Amino acid sequence: MSEKKQQVSRRQFLNYTLTGVGGFMAAGMLAPMVRFAIDPVLQPASTGDYQAVAQLEDITNEPQRFDWTIDQIDAWYESEVTKSAWVYKDDNDEIIALSPVCKHLGCFVSWAGSDEHPDQFYCPCHDGRYYKDGVNVPGTPPAAALDEFEYKTEDGTLYLGKAKPRGA
Ligand code: FES
Repeated sequence: MSEKKQQVSRRQFLNYTLTGVGGFMAAGMLAPMVRFAIDPVLQPASTGDYQAVAQLEDITNEPQRFDWTIDQIDAWYESEVTKSAWVYKDDNDEIIALSPVCKHLGCFVSWAGSDEHPDQFYCPCHDGRYYKDGVNVPGTPPAAALDEFEYKTEDGTLYLGKAKPRGA
């Protein structure tokens, strides 16, 4: 029995070497291009952005709906998105800005939307209700209070930030 010698010819050696070096160089060139291409996806979502929503003089003790638009960028797609909040001043003159998104399944709630409950927020989808302070009425479908917007005031203008769950 003869043992076959495994030898690498000069041609094979050059072939392996050039393939390895070429692959290494190609990876070095492609990595920044791939990183550049997916860069928007890797960017952290902007935080602390506040939008001018209303003049303070327009805010009363009765919840009012204010709408505003933001430019939203999802990777390469840029669009205008309308956002809304229910805003009022409580008994201590503190501003309360509530998200209109129902905590049950995400429909929009409206203040005094039900004739039977004119002093509550009402969600028409499944008869969800919330008290004026946004707390869900027990026995109705929503299991949590409406989210509350962060806000700041400047030069007579109300600016809203992100809507957050209570206590978050
Ligand atoms: S989505 Fe509001 S009660 Fe169901």
